[in-house]
Amino acid sequence: MQRRSFLGSMIAGLAVPALIGRASAQSAPGQPLPIPALMDVGDEAGNRIDAIVGRRSFFEGAETRVLGWSQDYLGPTLRMQRGRGARIIAGNRLEQGITAHWHGLHVPGWQDGGPHSVIAPGRHLEQTLEIDQPAGTYWYHSHVHGRTGEQVYHGLAGLLIIEDPEAPEPGLPLDYGIDDIPLIVQDRWFSRAGELRYDDDGMALMQGFRGDRILVNGALSPVARVPAGLVRLRLLNGSNSRVYRFRFEDGRAFHQVATDAGLLPAPLRRSEVQLAPAERAEIVVDFASGRPARLVSVDVPVAMMGRGMMGGGGMMGGMMGGGSGASEDGAAFEVARFEIDEGLTPKAMALPTTLAGAPRPNLEEPVRRRSFRLNMMMGMGMMGAMFGGKPELGINGKTYQMDRIDQQLRLGETELWEISADMMAHPFHVHGTSFQVVSRNGRAVSYAESGLKDVVWVDGTAEILIRFDRPARSDAPYMYHCHILEHEDAGMMGQFTVS
Ligand code: C2O
Ligand code: CU
Ligand code: CU
Repeated sequence: MQRRSFLGSMIAGLAVPALIGRASAQSAPGQPLPIPALMDVGDEAGNRIDAIVGRRSFFEGAETRVLGWSQDYLGPTLRMQRGRGARIIAGNRLEQGITAHWHGLHVPGWQDGGPHSVIAPGRHLEQTLEIDQPAGTYWYHSHVHGRTGEQVYHGLAGLLIIEDPEAPEPGLPLDYGIDDIPLIVQDRWFSRAGELRYDDDGMALMQGFRGDRILVNGALSPVARVPAGLVRLRLLNGSNSRVYRFRFEDGRAFHQVATDAGLLPAPLRRSEVQLAPAERAEIVVDFASGRPARLVSVDVPVAMMGRGMMGGGGMMGGMMGGGSGASEDGAAFEVARFEIDEGLTPKAMALPTTLAGAPRPNLEEPVRRRSFRLNMMMGMGMMGAMFGGKPELGINGKTYQMDRIDQQLRLGETELWEISADMMAHPFHVHGTSFQVVSRNGRAVSYAESGLKDVVWVDGTAEILIRFDRPARSDAPYMYHCHILEHEDAGMMGQFTVS
């Protein structure tokens, strides 16, 4: 057997826990969906989030040690206004360094909260972010090199909403927590005693770490009470590595209205939406019929059939096609349930046909092209993993190094980046801007993928048009990386300046 196929079968055969929370196994009534507290962050003093250790009861009778931002597990939803400063203090009450990375925000490198901007234990960082980008659903999380996976897994993440007071009103539900509902979807693995288990070594690293239970806003398979009208769901895949394909169990259609970084020009009717780690989508669901709904997902295989390692289908291809772990039988698993609350007066009843205020990407002709190859096959990488070592992953043959600047970019110049994946599909993310995906695997992208993004799913090759309007110096450069957090921590990341 050639080495490549052998390694391929390793990825395909990785043992990952099967999901317990399958749709069929759900009979106990779920707990109510927690809605993260809303923190309006303007330019006045007093907005503060602190990384803390907490204990949370995910199961009856068990307490779990978690991290969170000013709460046990996750953090408040930060709401910021375009055209205004957002003044925020991020404090650290842990015994390890953290950062506060504003994922998707167009802020200069020194405010981006990347790996160079560590907040030491007992310290805090005060910043005023100048918000100038389209309204949308973003997020924040710690980003310490080598520990991002572990820290986010334990809870150092939260949602971030940008509103644009100058943009025309799109006519979408906007009552936070009532008909505009955040859904932070994560998979977690608990020990018998109820503690969170995490492993970023060897095999878990290669495919990315996966859990066997689904949390939404920190609750296991929760139930949301919604009005009998239109409801906007802001979906964030906050998992370390799991890719979801969300749909409703009864097959009902919904409309997607936004991608990672802003509204689509018009709502798109669909019945499923796929999100890789860190991707967001806003969807609008019509509950006017009064029928409850169950949001489910199936897994999306991450190993690429017939690409790189497999060289075609055959027996090995068949193995790959089975996907991995939870998706082995392709069964849908439950994410959350929705029930109608007659006490809530529905406000939005009709979806607009076009979404006023949708951003118009104005990326010009690219002045240059760059390519990025995401590598699983660095030196003894995969072999090291087999023997319990810590393999190095990389991009363009180099593993991430904090003291090496990989590219120097010019402010305001549009570039075309071609990203290609080795062996597995990877969600590629870039800091400091939003981009437009122009093609995937040589084909123009669908309407659903045409909106502004900051993560692109690369299951072969993808081309993006990208431009930076904020600077980043060498002491706090911007990052690009795979958002499978175990891959990022193992070095599938690079950094660049913009001047
Ligand atoms: Cu969501 Cu570099 O991060
Ligand atoms: Cu980011
Ligand atoms: Cu990856």
